[in-house]
Amino acid sequence: MEEKIKAFLKEIETFTTEKQQEIEDFRIRLLSRKGQIPALFEEFKKLGGEEKRKYGKSLNELKQKAQAKIDDLRAGASKDGETGERFDLSRPASAGFMGSRHPVNLVKNEIVDIFKRIGFNVSEGPEIEDDWHNFTALNFPEEHPARDMQDTFFVARNPEWALRTHTSSVQVRAMEANKPPIRTISPGRVFRNEAISARSHCIFHQVEGLYIDKSVSFADLKQTLLYFAREFFGKDTRIRLRPSYFPFTEPSAEMDVYWGLENEVDYRMTKGTGWLEVMGCGMVDPNVLENCGIDPNEYSGYAFGMGVERIAMQRYQISDIRYLFENDIRFLEQFHTAL
Ligand code: PHE
Repeated sequence: MEEKIKAFLKEIETFTTEKQQEIEDFRIRLLSRKGQIPALFEEFKKLGGEEKRKYGKSLNELKQKAQAKIDDLRAGASKDGETGERFDLSRPASAGFMGSRHPVNLVKNEIVDIFKRIGFNVSEGPEIEDDWHNFTALNFPEEHPARDMQDTFFVARNPEWALRTHTSSVQVRAMEANKPPIRTISPGRVFRNEAISARSHCIFHQVEGLYIDKSVSFADLKQTLLYFAREFFGKDTRIRLRPSYFPFTEPSAEMDVYWGLENEVDYRMTKGTGWLEVMGCGMVDPNVLENCGIDPNEYSGYAFGMGVERIAMQRYQISDIRYLFENDIRFLEQFHTAL
């Protein structure tokens, strides 16, 4: 018995090959059910108690060594054509997972780029604002409904603080910190205490713009918005301006883009008018300029602001705003190609 074990150990130690077939033959000869090592176990069963004690352990070790050797040989087996089941070097690589930009960011970046090209810079400000920057400096009357608990999230610890309801607050900061000419856009996240539905959310994003200089006119505003609409929606895009109201602009307007009425989706998106509402705008109210330390007799300016989610929903035909906040990978993956 001892001799045989020794002989096998020696064979296991010295045997070597890189060929899959030879490794398999070796395994079958030594370890398969009718192989030499199981045969040795059969012999072992017939031994007396004394000898069993002597060889049991080394026999088990022999079996383990044989298996370990085969595992080793397999790991180092040749990868050439003849035995190459393990690696097919001609196989195309499997695609790795690639992250993608969020559709809100894609649209926001595009809007920002369009305005950067005509000399606007980007300004940012805090999401938690004080009453002055979000409302008072912007000419909101004391009793204006937008200040109500219904529209604004206030900070419980300090009722002077609120989550900004628009990024016009950033424009106040820009006017306070800079001398005209000021040409800036402020993209960012805003918050309103609204019921969440397919069409509206309590969190969304805006891009607002501000231009202050000597003798800025409504015609400048209109031309800038037309430029934007044509860059963003296509070169033949038509726009219209409808009278509107904001406390911080006078006159105020709402800009629509002509979308068309060719199918059912167009009807739904434009409420049957063919026109898409895109943004609010107007000439900065002289009170606002004064509040921010700019002389309204010397300077004038325009401002505009748009919601990014709504434009992203139009662009990508997204039917429910909540998709934009759920981070469901199956939804987000669809924007891979939009990188
Ligand atoms: N701040 C306005 C809003 O949140 C948008 C706006 C900005 C309108 C600038 C006019 C001028 O709806």
